[in-house]
Amino acid sequence: MSADIRNQFETSGQGHVFQFFDSLNASQQEQLLQQAEAIDLKELSDLVNTLVLGDGDDHINFEGMTPAPYTPLPDAGGDSELWSQAESVGEQALRDGRVAAFTPAGGQGTRLGYDGPKGTFAVTPIVKKSLFQVFAEKIKAASTRYGVTIPWYIMTSQGNHEATVRFFEENDFFGLDPDSVTHFAQGTMPAVDFDGKIILADKDTIALSPDGHGGSLRALVRSGSIADMEARGIDCVCFFQVDNPMVRCIDPEFIGFHVMGESELSSKACLKAYPKEKVGVFAEIDGKTQVIEYSDLPDELAEATEANGDLVYRAGSIAIHIFSRSLIARVGGDDASVKLPFHRADKKIPTVDAAGDPVAPSEPNGVKFEMFGFDALPFAKNPVVIETARADDFSPVKNAEGIDSPESSRQDQLRQFARWAIAADYDIEVDETGLPAFEFEVSPLYATNAKIFAERVAESRPEITAGTVLDVN
Ligand code: UTP
Repeated sequence: MSADIRNQFETSGQGHVFQFFDSLNASQQEQLLQQAEAIDLKELSDLVNTLVLGDGDDHINFEGMTPAPYTPLPDAGGDSELWSQAESVGEQALRDGRVAAFTPAGGQGTRLGYDGPKGTFAVTPIVKKSLFQVFAEKIKAASTRYGVTIPWYIMTSQGNHEATVRFFEENDFFGLDPDSVTHFAQGTMPAVDFDGKIILADKDTIALSPDGHGGSLRALVRSGSIADMEARGIDCVCFFQVDNPMVRCIDPEFIGFHVMGESELSSKACLKAYPKEKVGVFAEIDGKTQVIEYSDLPDELAEATEANGDLVYRAGSIAIHIFSRSLIARVGGDDASVKLPFHRADKKIPTVDAAGDPVAPSEPNGVKFEMFGFDALPFAKNPVVIETARADDFSPVKNAEGIDSPESSRQDQLRQFARWAIAADYDIEVDETGLPAFEFEVSPLYATNAKIFAERVAESRPEITAGTVLDVN
């Protein structure tokens, strides 16, 4: 077997992967061979030819591109009856047990610079709950409200799988039934240098990296999660990223629009804060809804406005979706005609030199290949896009400081708690940005939106002062 694999790599121009092979001990040789065997050399060579040696294959046809239609919020001119109808339909789908939660949590979180799975990062203002705990409590709260079990599927990666599972075990799954929480690791792709040669992370190790959040579709299929969903009667899969504690991950209105639209992939859009904000936008090309990345959108289109001054391409993608189970099964399966494309990301990839000594590059030295979840949009029947208010759904923890950081997210959570309290007639002093003068925290088990908050405080009106934590006992 060893000679076969080495020959295949030699023929594909990747024989250097075994340059240290003869100096390795038997278990190191075995590890390298196992990693090598899992690589699809034909797929890799196609990717190298198009994305590394060629000029890429994403030529976007901007001629004839139009903004994708979306359903505006009631206070932005949307039909409030339609929104209430969506809420009822979504609540029924929840009661019928059709809904699951899904979080891709396999990312490496390099921008945050936190040593551990990102979901274990503490985010709430006072209790310092982890991201995973916040989501678990939102899922538990919705399960209780609708009298069902909402299963949660979490995609990890090889590098953080064990630590993630341990975190859930050590925390008793945050009160969820362990049988309804599934962890599985996503696939990997080898990294290559700018000549398309596979990079060695060490003498006995190929530089492998997670295959992007779009890898979740095939990982959901390969892990058996799609079959598990089918057995449980789940057909709506609420997709949200691991770094956004504000997400209304189980949102009846959103589920309702998805169901009413007979959609296979629904998305939430936030209005862009300014023309060149770094978010993708929803657009339609040749009748297909797509997300166009900010880096691909020409300036004149990013800045184009309508007669009333609104941006033409204003619906920004915030990576909150509902996938139908059927779409995941189709796109994550073996049918080559509906596969997600790979994208190229240039990165600093630790490696070894010709003598086998470690090298930590200070500049990008290679390419990782990643799939993006939103690339499933063109394959989806009846895609639906609805507007959401940023303040209600989106304040991710991406960077160590500044925009989208732990501090900006902490403040956004406080603003949200203050809005809920003020709407329920509490006298809370806030500054001009809506930030309350003191910290308090609302557990997702207590309330996950203003309506539920108002219901709660109508039952027993708790005092809210500095340091108050509203929770259920
Ligand atoms: P990001 O694009 O923010 O990437 O992921 P990241 O790896 O977490 O962070 P940086 O870029 O290194 O700083 C968005 C979401 O997709 C998941 C992440 O865990 C996060 O929920 N993701 C990303 C995966 O599950 N797998 C991947 O391969 C990449």
